[in-house]
Amino acid sequence: MSTSTSADILSHVDAGVMTLTLNRVDKKNSITAAMYDALADALEAANHDAAVRVVVIQGHESIFSAGNDIGDFLNKPPSTPDSPVFRFLRGISSFPKPLVAAVCGPAVGIGTTMLLHCDLVYAGDNAAFSMPFVNLGLCPEAASSFLVPQLMGYPRAAEALLLGEPFMAETALEIGLINRIVPPTEVNALAQRQAQKLAAKPLSALMETKRLMKKGHAGIVAERMAEEGASFGRMLQEPAAREAFTAFMEKRRPDFSQV
Ligand code: COA
Repeated sequence: MSTSTSADILSHVDAGVMTLTLNRVDKKNSITAAMYDALADALEAANHDAAVRVVVIQGHESIFSAGNDIGDFLNKPPSTPDSPVFRFLRGISSFPKPLVAAVCGPAVGIGTTMLLHCDLVYAGDNAAFSMPFVNLGLCPEAASSFLVPQLMGYPRAAEALLLGEPFMAETALEIGLINRIVPPTEVNALAQRQAQKLAAKPLSALMETKRLMKKGHAGIVAERMAEEGASFGRMLQEPAAREAFTAFMEKRRPDFSQV
């Protein structure tokens, strides 16, 4: 069954696997409020639909996602916990069925942090991960301030989150953010094969195993995400972020000398 939840998010269900495709390639798959809502709605539907046993999230061979749509952040910054971006983050972080991601090209900001909540992540050798929140006058989201130091250790997390330095697929594999690297043309097919394997297993056993594996962190993740969200929403309105976003829109370097 093929449905389009929004023009920029394609949804397709086949043999127990729901595939969600970020489909805004001309804007580098940057994610608008409407796209977050579509993703959150799709995850909610997948959660309640017995015909969906696994969800795959994928982008394009050249780009996974450039993160949040910067124009949206300037014009309608998320200000409450019900804002689409936070709805999506709560949905993905608490999604009880298996989640598989296929990542090629840049995965910026939430393009990387959403992967912390996926169970299996397959990447193209062109994948580049970055969390440049500080460079944008912001703080981490998606509980990445907790999960990234845990995953990489503090020194590497500091490079990734304080310097905002990108890292490539090899590093992502080494630190355990991703499961395997293949040529970009093969990533989506590999993710589908792995999803089909999961879909053939008993869902109740998959869900209970996932719940138990995540149990130690579930409370901390939810609490940290709420705290990050409050700071993130406030910082979006402050001069550093406004300068960073205006500079991006004006295609110039930001000037942080006054902030
Ligand atoms: N929000 C809105 N528009 C974006 C965007 C974003 N996050 N990222 C890219 N775009 C748009 C560009 O404005 C450009 O639009 P235009 O063709 O109308 O000028 C188009 O997508 C292509 O982007 P461009 O920067 O020219 O592509 P690139 O291949 O040179 O670089 C990236 C790709 C992802 C490295 C670069 O676009 C980038 O750094 N984007 C911003 C990432 C970011 O800071 N995200 C965090 C948001 S919290």
